[in-house]
Amino acid sequence: MQVPQLFPVHSAPHGTKVAVVGAGAVGSTIAYACQIHGVAHTVALYDTDAAKVRAQVLDLQHGSMFTPTTAIIGSDDVGVCADADVVVITAGAKQRPGQSRMALAEANVAMCQALVPRLLEVAPEAILVPVTNPVDVVTQAVLAVSGLPAHRVVGSGTVLDSSRLRSLISERAGVGVPSVRAYIAGEHGDSAVPLWSGAFVGSVPVSDWKVDGTPTFTQAVRDDIARTVTNAAYEVIAGKGATTYAVGLAAAYILDAVLGDQRLILPVSSLVQDFHGIGGVCMSLPRLVDRSGAGVPEPVTPSPEELARLRSSAAQIRKVCRDLRL
Ligand code: LAC
Repeated sequence: MQVPQLFPVHSAPHGTKVAVVGAGAVGSTIAYACQIHGVAHTVALYDTDAAKVRAQVLDLQHGSMFTPTTAIIGSDDVGVCADADVVVITAGAKQRPGQSRMALAEANVAMCQALVPRLLEVAPEAILVPVTNPVDVVTQAVLAVSGLPAHRVVGSGTVLDSSRLRSLISERAGVGVPSVRAYIAGEHGDSAVPLWSGAFVGSVPVSDWKVDGTPTFTQAVRDDIARTVTNAAYEVIAGKGATTYAVGLAAAYILDAVLGDQRLILPVSSLVQDFHGIGGVCMSLPRLVDRSGAGVPEPVTPSPEELARLRSSAAQIRKVCRDLRL
């Protein structure tokens, strides 16, 4: 069932198109963020629940006066994703309060393995952006079942975690978030790794930052910030049932980097071939994101402790992938 458009769209056939699979809280928020930021000419929502996808599309269309012109379409037919430049995958089970992301692996991997071939039939040139958790394992599964080159499968990874980290550093440093550069790497999950060795407030390494002459980011403060980032989703899910706004903005930011060929360095989850001996696993490392998708990880040298934690994080992702024969 194709949802009627409220207005004729003249540019969409020649314009950019984002398809969002899953019209639930996360998928619809990603569509909403794309609409607000004018990420694409067309945003298509696909969900097997016809009533839900129609309601989400109409609700988004009704706000069209307030945003850049965006054709919002949707359907319970996967054909609505036809010729998308980017397909975001949000479908699948979501974390229950206290449940780890990895606990969703078997069900969500199976769902993606069935879905991806159908998506590539209608959108054979698309960059695929898994958001469904556990996103590193799902990214590995999407890469395997799609047969695409690694650069075309770009999991949302720890872009969201890095935003959480930057906002916490910003609070402590008393500097606006846009002037903080810091990355979380590894698993988007319990074994995520803050790369403190590459974190800056303006041009000052975080390790040298002081407030009133006192070093701000002591080991105890860094540990507290790392714990807060790792627990962030659990806290939000306990309170409202799911995380939506930040992951929606993070995904739209990645889509904008791809469609706008912005060449941003983002910690997206994609295949790691050989990073200081880590390889054969999809996990987040800062890498170039442009119209072709995800590049190779930037040649950064983490601290010995960070590298040890990245190896451990990779091993945890690989174990779940092996258990699922990925
Ligand atoms: C979170 C979900 C998207 O971290 O994993 O909010």
